[in-house]
Amino acid sequence: MGLTRRALMKGAAAFAALPTTTWATPEKEQFIARKASLQLLPDTYPKSEIWGYDGKMPGPEIRLPQGNSVRKTLTNELPQATSTHWHGIRIDNSMDGVAGLTQEAVERGSSFEYEFTVPDAGTYWYHSHNRSFEQVARGLYGALIVEEPVSMDIDREEVLVLDDWLLDPDTGQIAEGFGAPHDLSHAGRMGNFIGTNGAGHLTLDVERNERLRLRLINASNARVFQLALAGLDGWIVALDGMPLPAPRLVSGAFQIGPAQRYDLVVDVIAETGESAHIARQSRDGSFSQVEFKVQGQIAANTREAPNRLPPNSQSKVDLNAATKIDLRMEGGAMGGLQSALLDGERKSMRELMQAQQFWAFNEAVGGIDGPPLGEFSLGESVRLKIINDTVFPHAMHLHGMHFWEILQDGSMGDFRDTTMVERGSTREIAFVADNPGDWLLHCHMLSHAASGMMAWVKVQA
Ligand code: C2O
Ligand code: CU
Repeated sequence: MGLTRRALMKGAAAFAALPTTTWATPEKEQFIARKASLQLLPDTYPKSEIWGYDGKMPGPEIRLPQGNSVRKTLTNELPQATSTHWHGIRIDNSMDGVAGLTQEAVERGSSFEYEFTVPDAGTYWYHSHNRSFEQVARGLYGALIVEEPVSMDIDREEVLVLDDWLLDPDTGQIAEGFGAPHDLSHAGRMGNFIGTNGAGHLTLDVERNERLRLRLINASNARVFQLALAGLDGWIVALDGMPLPAPRLVSGAFQIGPAQRYDLVVDVIAETGESAHIARQSRDGSFSQVEFKVQGQIAANTREAPNRLPPNSQSKVDLNAATKIDLRMEGGAMGGLQSALLDGERKSMRELMQAQQFWAFNEAVGGIDGPPLGEFSLGESVRLKIINDTVFPHAMHLHGMHFWEILQDGSMGDFRDTTMVERGSTREIAFVADNPGDWLLHCHMLSHAASGMMAWVKVQA
């Protein structure tokens, strides 16, 4: 992922319109979910077997202009049924890829044709949505980049897909034990090997004063990355694909939860011969997540702050007239949940544990078989108050529609598709039910989604 088409635009005025007629209509493309081996660990270790789209991890980057269509025929060569979800795309419901809700899972040897338009520019991703706590951990994900019809004043762009893998230290293979009760009931499946774009320590060559657009995607099952910039000055220009009204200067650490995306514009300010970093902060210290080796100097000075990106369309939310719904999250280890409804019957925590279910939404173990959390008419405004009554953070994702985070003072915050709800805290979100269909709402700590943290809403046509 080196220089992109954008690099050719270097020097063009920001937001100069690109001719849209140069893009050909995409042909139907094959897209195979299959096993492959790749050198994930240093080469003193054997290769690791992964499950990848076209045998790659991350899968092939899908990149197209805003308003165009993706046409991909998914063929499943895996030993399990699968499906593909296009995370963050405000998509036609039948193409959302949720096995059991919007389509049947694709059995081994079968195919499913995905075809949809991408209404919004920005950084998105795709991943398995059947047994995702296992299939995403095995590598079934990739970047989906929708380009704005304007060019930014940058020198180049890099897509950075962050992940952690749980590897057997002896064999170097992805550890089995998917859905282990400890992962389900605690923070989720955490890897012991962290990397970017399928590499343990990604290193890129840059030049001093070079301006990069970085598209960060957290593809991990459960890890919340705490990141900071070193030797880079930067701004956040978009979150979960959606441009911010104004670039936001990065100062200090920022957090990227599972499934979230950050678009950054950064200037390399480290000296030639040194390295800049995206640093990852953890309890054990600060580590280099991505290293940028400064090889020379591209310009004498850095540029002025970047312009905003053009906004994607937004329906107007009516906060006062909005339908109000509460979602109380309970359960998990140390959560004190005594009992909850499972398939309509009240079960003790002990019985729930035997059923491998550890979490409840509004006193019921969540899933897609029960009634929807809400049923909305088209265009209805909704305020959803998510109350985290557990001792773990959760990354709550709504399919089909982006939502606004409502700030403590009642004002509207960022427009996102995945929001972090910290332990013991409440997060209110608001959205316009403007996309008809059945849409999931779940925790993107994928072990949590598999053990009770799953709901859905219905938007009438
Ligand atoms: Cu990124 Cu329901 O998923
Ligand atoms: Cu969770």
